[in-house]
Amino acid sequence: MEYITLNNGLKMPIVGTGTNTYGKENNDYNGEVKNEIPELVSALELGYRSIDAAISYRNEELVGRVLAESTVPREELFITTKIPANEEYISSKEATRAAIDNSLKNFRTDYLDLLLIHHPIEDKEQLKNTWEVFEEYYEAGKLKAIGVSNFGKNQLDDLKKFAKVKPAVNQIQINLKEPNKELLAILEEEGITPVAWGPMKTEAHQQEALDEIGKSYKKYGAQVLLKYQIQRGVVVIPKSHNRENQAANIDLFDFELSAEDVEKVENL
Ligand SMILES: NC(=O)c1ccc[n+]([C@@H]2O[C@H](COP(=O)([O-])OP(=O)(O)OC[C@H]3O[C@@H](n4cnc5c(N)ncnc54)[C@H](OP(=O)(O)O)[C@@H]3O)[C@@H](O)[C@H]2O)c1
Repeated sequence: MEYITLNNGLKMPIVGTGTNTYGKENNDYNGEVKNEIPELVSALELGYRSIDAAISYRNEELVGRVLAESTVPREELFITTKIPANEEYISSKEATRAAIDNSLKNFRTDYLDLLLIHHPIEDKEQLKNTWEVFEEYYEAGKLKAIGVSNFGKNQLDDLKKFAKVKPAVNQIQINLKEPNKELLAILEEEGITPVAWGPMKTEAHQQEALDEIGKSYKKYGAQVLLKYQIQRGVVVIPKSHNRENQAANIDLFDFELSAEDVEKVENL
């Protein structure tokens, strides 16, 4: 595994696993949460250590139980979760504190590695209050890093006006269909690490071209795609319900894309 150093010095695995459909009926985001989560067990066996969770996924407790019961020591895990931007969680500082405390309980831990605001909070007072609670837990060592998700430039600017702790990451959609280039440039300038959700999304012609590029490295197109992102410092959190795909998605550290192939992927 390779790591990226966040702006507060914390090291984050550059590849993690998403969990938004794990442990759910029919692998469906809206499906009922079951009592087991074989995809997570398999991800841990294959070497995934960074786990991207969220309160909205409704499976935090199940994910937390499997992590706590696994043989992987807590200090090897990098647990991310997200606070939804809705009234239940952000209407008051008490509500946000209760949500964080509950996540800590779900993960059976006394700290989370990364906590994100899942979506932009339009009400500036609520944004400020929420971030102040994040900072409070960060200062207390209960959150090792704090960040945001799906924030655009204006929303990052709003946060900047009062944030004492700069967001360490912005988790946004980044893939070949939505390259999000302008925002990526802003994040780089600001020293905020981009985390790509939905990294696997491609058009059919892009997938064919990636498969073609992969041949000379003896890699699948999906691996070329992920390597392209991590090679330029974008953290990826692909999820798969298929063990072979999970294995491929973390088998990225024995090759390097040439400058020419990087350019090819960039122009797909
Ligand atoms: N912050 C946010 O608002 C937000 C939004 C969306 C997602 N997320 C997070 O980001 C994670 C990843 O995003 P995502 O779940 O939307 O999509 P994704 O990881 O881009 O794509 C998942 C799809 O790609 C397929 N896949 C994975 N690896 C593959 C491979 N090697 N070869 C071929 N197909 C492969 C999977 O199918 P198989 O199961 O058949 O392999 C699955 O259908 C989520 O799980 C969640 O944790 C965050």
